[in-house]
Amino acid sequence: MKITKICCIGAGYVGGPTMAVIAQKCPEIQVTVVDLNEERIAAWNDTDTANIPIYEPGLDVIVAEARGRNLFFSTNVDKAIDEAQIIFISVNTPTKTYGKGKGMAADLKYIELCARQIARVAKDNKIVVEKSTLPVRTAEAIKSILDNTGNGVQFQILSNPEFLAEGTAVTDLLHPDRILIGGDPSEEGKKAIQALVDVYSNWVPAAKILTTNVWSSELSKLTANAFLAQRISSINAMSELCEKTGADVNEVAKAIGMDSRIGSKFLKASVGFGGSCFQKDILNLVYIAKSYGLNAVADYWEQVIIMNDHQKRRFSNSIVQTLYNTVSDKKITFLGWAFKKDTNDTRESAAIYVADDLINEHAKIAVYDPKVSNKKILGDLNYLETRNAEANANSVRSFLDPYEACQQAHAIAILTEWDEFIHYDWQKIYDSMQKPAFIFDGRNLLNGPELKAIGFVYQAIGS
Ligand code: UDX
Ligand code: UDX
Ligand code: ADP
Repeated sequence: MKITKICCIGAGYVGGPTMAVIAQKCPEIQVTVVDLNEERIAAWNDTDTANIPIYEPGLDVIVAEARGRNLFFSTNVDKAIDEAQIIFISVNTPTKTYGKGKGMAADLKYIELCARQIARVAKDNKIVVEKSTLPVRTAEAIKSILDNTGNGVQFQILSNPEFLAEGTAVTDLLHPDRILIGGDPSEEGKKAIQALVDVYSNWVPAAKILTTNVWSSELSKLTANAFLAQRISSINAMSELCEKTGADVNEVAKAIGMDSRIGSKFLKASVGFGGSCFQKDILNLVYIAKSYGLNAVADYWEQVIIMNDHQKRRFSNSIVQTLYNTVSDKKITFLGWAFKKDTNDTRESAAIYVADDLINEHAKIAVYDPKVSNKKILGDLNYLETRNAEANANSVRSFLDPYEACQQAHAIAILTEWDEFIHYDWQKIYDSMQKPAFIFDGRNLLNGPELKAIGFVYQAIGS
């Protein structure tokens, strides 16, 4: 089947960049990204591509090249579904905040709404691709909805998980380690898989395109994220031991990373991992394991989350303890709020939890992040429902200038590893702070010896 029209439901961190790259690499395919959120679509259509709603290095250039040519952003979901041969579902699947599986299971209501909408609108055969990370066997549920409520047309469901990391989305999409496509082993299923393989073949070498059954594909995505997160919790666990024993976690990470069986990536000790995927996917894995009665499996993976929570709490406790056991009314400046550098995404960022702990201790938090707005910061804190919005607004202020953010602060905490922090005039910052001036480096980003020479009391993770 020759694909000429693709639609993607969901113009978020996954759908937006993925479709932009498909459009750039497949000029003969018309790609339409739709979303219910009018504001978001308007931002994607902003004549100045600096204003697109997602900050990813290089994305603005790709959007500028393809938009209006064969890349379109729209709120007309029905029309895009109707016209497309392939429909990607890339809507959000947050952890449930209510009912059975609360705090653990993925909330599939947005997925189900999409499936019902596709079923209602489709008048010819469609290939439906799950792009969002979903619990294993979700494809089956989508198929059941489509087959039972549709207009008698045929649907093929494929699982095509996205492995891009935020901040490097464009590079990851242009040069993926692999593309994974899961589908039904029937003849019709194989044709659908081939149609999607042909799309990716426009720029991905054949050897990197892997096809499996649907469930292997779905489970591989959860497994990949669980393994990656597990490495961070493992090195973070060692960081606490390093602090007690006089070992240095950076040295340990380097030493073990040189073992080719272990590898050097994803061994950076930190204040804890964040992001929309790791915690959600592991909780989802734990929930699935429990639902099959596999308690040892569930407990094993849950430990990764327990360790991560511990690491965040340990960081805030250490700030309080070091500041003579009280941060009440002290100004503590956060450099960074995003869950990692080069993104404006803050979902599950460690900064949120550390701030929440410190506000409980009556600290005054000042925040500087080059890409995150004050509105988002307050929104993140309000979402926790620890205290009311007014109390949060009274405890947190954000700044457009990092030097101003640090003025008169008792301590600085590095929460995100933005490159620009490295090059600040640290002497100038030191001179403007309360003394002793403390730095808690939650990313092991800064040059400790230099800062100590200036006069800072400098604490890093795991040394
Ligand atoms: C291990 C370390 O690999 C080595 O670096 C260290 O110096 C000593 O301990 P060893 O125990 O000799 O070496 O063998 P190894 O190849 O690591 O296997 C250990 C066990 O793990 C074996 O029972 C092996 O069958 C098992 N294993 C290994 C698996 O079950 N799956 C694997 O993927 C790898
Ligand atoms: C992750 C997976 O990497 C990606 O393949 C998947 O598609 C989505 O989830 P993402 O969450 O965007 O991507 O970013 P990632 O680079 O994985 O970082 C996640 C968190 O782990 C960040 O908070 C980061 O700071 C932290 N991290 C990462 C560490 O603390 N140490 C490390 O060594 C690596
Ligand atoms: P991700 O990181 O998975 O891309 P985001 O939250 O950034 O998640 O993006 C998901 C997008 O999906 C949001 O912009 C949301 O408005 C959109 N969305 C959710 N449900 C629907 C739906 N039924 N139809 C269209 N768009 C939807």
